[in-house]
Amino acid sequence: MSNVAPNDPAAARGISRRTQSDIYRAGISGALPAVPIDAQKLDAAAEAALTKEAYAYIAGGAGGEATMRANRAAFDRWQVWPRPLHDVATRDLSVEFLGRTRPTPLLLAPLGVMELAHPEADLAVARAAASAGVPYAISNQASFPMERIAQAAPGAARLFQLYWSASDELNASLLGRAEASGCEAIVVTLDTHLLGWRTRDLDLAYLPFTRGMGIAQYTSDPVFQQLVKDRASAPAAGGDAVKVTPKTIAAGVSIARKGAALTGSRSLRDNLRSPLPRTAVETFLDVFSTPRLTWDDLANAREWTSLPIILKGIVHPDDAERAVDAGLDGVWISNHGGRQIDRSVPTLDVLPEIAEKVAGRVPVVFDSGVRGGADAAIALALGADLVALGRPYAYGLGIAGEAGVREVIRNVLAELDITLGLAGLTSAGELDRDALRAV
Ligand code: FNR
Repeated sequence: MSNVAPNDPAAARGISRRTQSDIYRAGISGALPAVPIDAQKLDAAAEAALTKEAYAYIAGGAGGEATMRANRAAFDRWQVWPRPLHDVATRDLSVEFLGRTRPTPLLLAPLGVMELAHPEADLAVARAAASAGVPYAISNQASFPMERIAQAAPGAARLFQLYWSASDELNASLLGRAEASGCEAIVVTLDTHLLGWRTRDLDLAYLPFTRGMGIAQYTSDPVFQQLVKDRASAPAAGGDAVKVTPKTIAAGVSIARKGAALTGSRSLRDNLRSPLPRTAVETFLDVFSTPRLTWDDLANAREWTSLPIILKGIVHPDDAERAVDAGLDGVWISNHGGRQIDRSVPTLDVLPEIAEKVAGRVPVVFDSGVRGGADAAIALALGADLVALGRPYAYGLGIAGEAGVREVIRNVLAELDITLGLAGLTSAGELDRDALRAV
C-alpha cells in the first residue's frame, strides 16, 4: 500500500517529476520497471500474462475493430509544435474539475470486470489512483461493491458510472449508494444500451457476466437482491437445457462463488445448491440496460441523486449542446474504446467541435485511444479539460497488480509533464491549438 496521501497535489507533482530519474537510478542497481513503458509492449505483456478470454475481453473491440484503429489514427493527424527558450523549470499540471483543484488532468475511466486482470481488481485500481491523486470512475460492472472500493482508498476522489438499468428502483438505489460512498459525480454511460458486436468474445463464446463476474454492484444491492428473490420464487419459465460439460460445471462453481452476497453463506456447497446465484445472473442479463432510454428519461436521475451528472458516450456536437442545454454537468466524449460500433467516429476528430459547442460551460472529459502523455497533451490542446485512461491501466493491473497500475499512471503523467515542458509551456491550462500543428 502506498503511504502517499490521496489527492495530495504535491505528491502527484512529485510522481510526474521524479519518474524519469527514479527509473534510471534504479537501473544502476539492475531494477527495471514492473511494466513496459511503450504502449504496444504493455499491451503485449498483458496478453502474455492473461488468459485468452480475459485478454480478448479487455483488448477487443466491435466488428473488425476499425474504430479502435481510427481512434489511434486520429492522434497521428496532430503534432506537438515545440517553442523552446521559455522558462519551463516550474510546471503545473493541475486543473479545476467539479469545483475542486485536481493535481493533474488525468482520470481513470470506468472499466468493468477487472477481476479478469487481477483478483484485487478495482480495489488495487482505487489504491493506485489515490496514490497519484487521480480521480477514479468506479464501474457499474466492477468486481467489488462500490462501498468496498471506497474503503480501499478512503478520502480519494471517486465518481460512479451508471449503466441505466431497466429497473428505476435499482437505478435510484445504486445512485443513493454512490452518494453515500463519497462519489463526487455520476457518470451515465449512454453508448451501451445494447452490447456491441464483439468479435473476439463471440469467437470464444465468452461474456464474463454470464459467469457471475462483474456484477458485484448488483449482487450487493438490496433492490437487486429483492428482484432476484422474486424471480427465484416465480414459477419456472422453462428454457433451453444446458449441456453439462466440465466447462458448464466450472461456470456453475464460478457463479456459485459470486453468489455469497445473495445467499449469505460462504459455503460453496450452499451456494451451489441455492438457485439464487444463477437467478442473479439471469436477472442481471434482464435489467442490465434498457434500449428505450431517451433524453426525457435523464431528468429522473435528478430525483435519484443530488450529485453532478456527466454524460459519457457523447460523440456528436449537437448532443453535447443538448446535454448542456438540459442542465447536465459534464460531457464525456467516448466511443467506449471502439467496443460498441465498428467503423464509428474517432473521438479525437470530434473533440474540437464539441469543445467549441460546450464553450467551457461544463467540463469536457475525453477518452478512447489515449496511450501516453503526448496523446493526453494533444487531447487537452484540442479542448478536453480532462483525459481518461482506459485499457493501459487494465494492462498494468494484469501484469503487476496495484504496482502495475501505479506505474502506468506515473508514466503517462511523467510523459505529459515532459511534453508540456519541451513544448515550451508551464501549465496544462496553456495547452491549446497554438501548441499543435495539423498534419
Ligand atoms: C470499458 N469501458 C467501460 N465504460 C463504462 O462506462 N463502463 C464500464 O463498465 C466499462 N467497462 C469497460 C471494460 C473494458 C475492459 C474496457 C476496455 C472498456 C469503456 C472505458 O470506460 C473507456 O471509454 C475506454 O476504455 C476508452 O478506450 P481506450 O482508451 O481504453 O481504448
